[in-house]
Amino acid sequence: MKLRIAVYPGSFDPFTYGHLDIIDRAAQIFDQVIVAVSVNSGKNPLFTIEERVAMIAKECTHLKNVEVDCFYGLLVDFACQKKARVIIRGLRAVSDFEYEFQMALTNRKLNPNLDTIFLVSQPKYSFLSSSIVKEIASLGGNVTGFVSPGVAAWLSAKFTNKKPEV
Ligand code: COA
Repeated sequence: MKLRIAVYPGSFDPFTYGHLDIIDRAAQIFDQVIVAVSVNSGKNPLFTIEERVAMIAKECTHLKNVEVDCFYGLLVDFACQKKARVIIRGLRAVSDFEYEFQMALTNRKLNPNLDTIFLVSQPKYSFLSSSIVKEIASLGGNVTGFVSPGVAAWLSAKFTNKKPEV
């Protein structure tokens, strides 16, 4: 039997219930899921890479076949290093499709052994994004329902300049 390893990449700044939903479902399909936090996503992150890895690991402790790591270079190289054949991406709405389609084709061109599999977000998370969560938190709004209490505490600590507890 082939060991099916899948990589779920993203910036996760911060990690939301929408991301957790995708990981939960991927963990039921694949033998192992590696959540890969991108160091260079072209975004200016609120959380450091170490904070994001720690945050996600804490949220995924109940999923024994999920590990969390980070990567610096190309996603295809990281996947290859981890012996993964599949990249998982979540699709929230049609608007995600064009970007995801381009990424999936590029990654396949870079490594023809890698396939991208899309999981469609649950409708209750289809409007969610990390930027929206950050904006709400920065303005003192309630992020319950979007992120876990643990991630909400990280956000609150960031915006009040306190050091979060890892
Ligand atoms: N639920 C909630 N939100 C979701 C979501 C879901 N299921 N799926 C995506 N999102 C949100 C994210 O929170 C993020 O929100 P933001 O833009 O407000 O931060 C947005 O959708 C898209 O982010 P993400 O899925 O993290 O992708 P990304 O564009 O930040 O990162 C990488 C994409 C990291 C996978 C890609 O840039 C990459 O592979 N980089 C490595 C370098 C490389 O190999 N480049 C060539 C790639 S072709």
